[in-house]
Amino acid sequence: MIFDTHAHYDDEQFDADRQELLNSFKAAGIGTVVNAASNIESCHNILKLIEEYSFIYGTLGIHPSDCKDLTEEDFKWIKAQTSNPKIVAIGEIGLDYYWPEPDHEIQQKWFERQLNLAKEVNLPVVIHSRDAAQDTLEMIKSANLPPQTVDIHCFSYSREMAREYLNMGYYLGIGGVVTFKNGKKLKEVVEYAPIENILLETDCPYLSPEPNRGKRNSSLNLPYVIEKIAEIKNMDVDDVISITEKNARNFYKKVN
Ligand code: NI
Repeated sequence: MIFDTHAHYDDEQFDADRQELLNSFKAAGIGTVVNAASNIESCHNILKLIEEYSFIYGTLGIHPSDCKDLTEEDFKWIKAQTSNPKIVAIGEIGLDYYWPEPDHEIQQKWFERQLNLAKEVNLPVVIHSRDAAQDTLEMIKSANLPPQTVDIHCFSYSREMAREYLNMGYYLGIGGVVTFKNGKKLKEVVEYAPIENILLETDCPYLSPEPNRGKRNSSLNLPYVIEKIAEIKNMDVDDVISITEKNARNFYKKVN
């Protein structure tokens, strides 16, 4: 079944119909969803969500754009929650230089702290990196994490940068952007990367694929992404689904 490795169902855009939507997934072939955290509030909401839905798992971590007010107390609390059997990764963590705030030094400090936390509690990491290709690569290289424990979520860099991560045995998160008419660079990356290193993701409610671009995204749109990957790699749709599910389970080892 389809495995959505990165979604944000705690987002308020799902407040009106969350239950109805999530309950429709099984019939649509969506087997597993991992909900990624971005700030402390979302960490709390994810802990509730994973209790309520058996097929939803969670990550805990602080997004680079939200790390300015992060405290030592928050950090300790996150660490304590990672023993929850349904918390399957640290994320999304990383660097985002697109926005002027917070300062790069603050982002780097919390990125490094959270990379070390992941090592300490033996969980994989979900990386957010925007306009920060070189610094992200350097920090991930220094962290020296084992193969299959890093997902560069919503991969947006070049084929050369993809090669760096593939050489370390890491994963590239691929979603709606691969269907965009202006998504040429990502199509090249998908063509180049082995299917065994690709994780399917929505990043919903954002980044809805064609033909639903601009609308609220959900895991129900993943078949459009799967079809595009199958077309680019000249594969059967069913193989794309089963191999990416296997990849996701190799990455999120705590998922049942
Ligand atoms: Ni995300």
